[in-house]
Amino acid sequence: MSKISAAITAVGGYVPDYVLTNKMLEDMVDTNDEWITTRTGIKERRILKEDGKGTSFLAIQAAQNLIQKSGVDPKDIELVIVATATPDMKAASTSAYTATQIGAVNAFSFDLEAACSSFLYGMSVAARYIESGKYKKVLLIGADKNSSMINYKDRATCIIFGDGGGAVLFEPNQEGLGLQDEFLRSDGAGREFLQATYGGSSYPSTPEAIKENKHQVFQDGKTVFKNAVFNMADVAVKILDRNKLTIKDISWLVAHQANKRIIDATANRIKLEEEKVMMNIEKYGNTTSATLPLLLNDYESKLKKGDNLIFAAFGGGFTWGSIYLKWAYNS
Ligand code: UT7
Repeated sequence: MSKISAAITAVGGYVPDYVLTNKMLEDMVDTNDEWITTRTGIKERRILKEDGKGTSFLAIQAAQNLIQKSGVDPKDIELVIVATATPDMKAASTSAYTATQIGAVNAFSFDLEAACSSFLYGMSVAARYIESGKYKKVLLIGADKNSSMINYKDRATCIIFGDGGGAVLFEPNQEGLGLQDEFLRSDGAGREFLQATYGGSSYPSTPEAIKENKHQVFQDGKTVFKNAVFNMADVAVKILDRNKLTIKDISWLVAHQANKRIIDATANRIKLEEEKVMMNIEKYGNTTSATLPLLLNDYESKLKKGDNLIFAAFGGGFTWGSIYLKWAYNS
């Protein structure tokens, strides 16, 4: 019997209706459309405004979109992983709620957190469950309600982040398609440069901390930027070399959407043409765990069976990595 690999067989996505444009941000902080566009590539982002709706709402919508498009019966799904840096609540699993709401009543579920690399790491985890032969339908969702931890008076962060969700279904493949290789890394020395300090177990929230916005995200943008450029390009090169791939073999670069300049730098380092670089940062900004599946959802109609995709991501922690995957279907 030929080896089992883990293929993506369906995708779905969701972004909230509310659009926060660069022009609107001009009224909120000292910034302007021209600066944001040239320094990040972002024109607008989506925000989930309704009270009481958290990341699970985005995850559920994305999963339901996948279910509706693919016709998969949610009762056949065996595992639901929600990759997120903004779980609904402490102690209660976001994935358990999500799985129940989408009708995946026979599945077990768990959350996976690795900041902006959550979905990339989730691909690795989902693939292992499939490759082992133990499970045949694993739903991986990447969703984040970043607006829940952003200070809309801090121009260093509020211009970048948006809310959204994306989902992929992993199933076994015996034609050699699906996940081929991965190179995943982390370095805890990076945590001081990107974090929400208060509200976790080290520093539970206090009224003083909240008053000073210390429960919201702080980032040393320049340091994160430099590390992202170096490391995302580095792992992409390693994946290509290790698999003896030249740029002619690559169909698409699927890179985390944090800043267009970081994505361009990664593409330039591997000398990849612009037409092969998936990009939707202008519409959604940085949706953390949702950027990679939202790209797949937006580009699904252009993807062909056998296409070679190189994924790359970098995020808080620091966490980063690259994955090589062969696309498994024509839509
Ligand atoms: O998802 C993974 C985590 N996040 C990232 O990967 C993000 C990585 N970092 C970045 O994308 C960029 O560092 C930022 C977009 C956050 C900032 O861009 P930058 O080119 O690194 O700007 P900077 O922080 O070096 O600031 C350059 C100038 C400064 O002014 P002076 O000191 O040169 O006078 C800033 O005060 O731009 C100023 N500035 C702004 N001006 C208008 C900083 N933010 C803004 C702003 N609007 N929003």
